Amino acid sequence: MKTLMLKTVSAALLTVAITSCKGNAQEAKELKDYYKDYFSIGVAVNQKSLTEPEASFIKKNFNSLTPENDMKMGPIQPKEGVFNWGPSDKIVDFAVKNNMKVRGHALCWHEQVGDWFFVDKEGNNVSRELLLQRLRTHIHTVVNRYKGKIYAWDVVNEAIDDNPNNLIRSSKWTEIIGDDYIEKAFEYAHEADPNAKLFYNDYNSERPEKVERIYTLLKRLKDKNIPINGVGLQGHWSIFEPSRNELEYAIQKYASLGLEIHVTELDVSIYKWEKEKRAKRSDESDEYTPELQKAQANQYKMFFEVFRKYKNNVTNVTFWNVTDKYSWLDHYPVEGRKNHPSLFDTNGKPKAAFWEVVNF
Ligand code: GLA
Repeated sequence: MKTLMLKTVSAALLTVAITSCKGNAQEAKELKDYYKDYFSIGVAVNQKSLTEPEASFIKKNFNSLTPENDMKMGPIQPKEGVFNWGPSDKIVDFAVKNNMKVRGHALCWHEQVGDWFFVDKEGNNVSRELLLQRLRTHIHTVVNRYKGKIYAWDVVNEAIDDNPNNLIRSSKWTEIIGDDYIEKAFEYAHEADPNAKLFYNDYNSERPEKVERIYTLLKRLKDKNIPINGVGLQGHWSIFEPSRNELEYAIQKYASLGLEIHVTELDVSIYKWEKEKRAKRSDESDEYTPELQKAQANQYKMFFEVFRKYKNNVTNVTFWNVTDKYSWLDHYPVEGRKNHPSLFDTNGKPKAAFWEVVNF
């Protein structure tokens, strides 16, 4: 009798063990799957990302792509009328084939733009009319090519000045056109694809004083009925900032204008934010200590708690670069100082931060 009971109990235990194993196997989830009821999870890619083994890794973990560089003004139209479609076509084709969304980046920016835009054959500044025409042609051509395939565009990137006393950053765009180049860019993008969602994208967009300035710009656009659907918080953050309060305040403030929020370029640096490029100091260590890993995991945890809390406003979260193997932050602002900003280590293995993001 005893033996029989023991046998029955152990058989039952075995069944439980097998079922739960099966259960786990069936539920083998990747990053994007944990967030399927929240928002799409994207990643910035370059040509190398689309080759194996990275391509498979990307398909598993992400369901949205942003070209890291290939759709910027300079790379995509290096000379007037000469469009370099190869790299961006590849990214869009890859996304379409694998059922992923694409965020286009970026139609108008003061960096990575060909000088030819602004000058005539003699090298003098062109007129406002001619620059507007060039901007319109650029935006129409690029947006048209990917109409129906790119659902959201960063239309204007980083137009707010770094100096808190100014609103709009001075650039060739403002010098020749004036501040309304921003409005025009949105209007051109909307003409080209009325169904695309149009975003204004910027960094430090949760720093208290910058929130107010970005808000001022966005409110102006909304008041003038400029076709804008959302704001991109780049999310080049660090273990030091932003705080939970800063992030929540920014999201609420932008959302109060009826705008959608995308986190467009997320990475969490282990160093303090710096703008200017500089050389590595001799006393500077780039060791990725257990303390730093912990601080980063906590920070990621908090960010995603906030994103989930505002899931009605935050509709996409995109990481800038795939794993710690390669990040632009290994070169900026300090050349050769290794950073470890992503959820995956240099071998593509989930880090502590990853588990904090998915265990909720
Ligand atoms: C800004 C731009 C991005 C990229 C990063 C650096 O955030 O929006 O396109 O250039 O800088 O990689």
